[in-house]
Amino acid sequence: MPDTAVSLTIPATSHKPAEKIQLSQRIVILFIFILLILAGCGAPATPTPPPTPTLPPQLARGQKVFQQNCGACHSLQPDLTIVGPSLAGIASRAADRVDGQDARTYIYTSVLNPDAYLVTGYENQMPNNFGKDLTGEDLDAVVAYLLTME
Ligand code: HEC
Repeated sequence: MPDTAVSLTIPATSHKPAEKIQLSQRIVILFIFILLILAGCGAPATPTPPPTPTLPPQLARGQKVFQQNCGACHSLQPDLTIVGPSLAGIASRAADRVDGQDARTYIYTSVLNPDAYLVTGYENQMPNNFGKDLTGEDLDAVVAYLLTME
């Protein structure tokens, strides 16, 4: 039994190896630290994904056009009226608005010539300059976007 007590005192003489281990551990820790910093620096270099990666490009464009030109007056939440009617579900309603106009034609007409048909209960407050101010591509994109609002 006393033998074990003696053997326990041995590490007192083994300072040097212990320090060596500590030093190499420090190097390893430092190395990992540097790797982490490098990894952190590398992260921003990867391209940030677009806000809605699931939307195809034309719909993403349409969403942007909508936010910039229409969102001040039209919500996409059912029953939330801003100035104009909510456009939630417009793709399903549009075909029933005007005889002879399918959903696509009705939405184009609403944007290009808002006076042509007034939604019941609303005034003629929608600007009629979109035909001039939006490019053809922006117009197509916003209509395509609204046609997804079923
Ligand atoms: C200044 C406010 C305003 C802005 C901006 C505006 N609208 Fe409107 N919009 C209205 C109002 C008010 C009506 C309802 C009267 C009418 O039918 O013209 C309406 C009606 C509509 C309708 C018919 C809705 C239905 O239920 O039949 C569509 C579609 C529409 N807007 C699309 C758009 C799009 C797309 C844009 C952007 C390019 C836009 N609007 C910008 C005010 C606005």
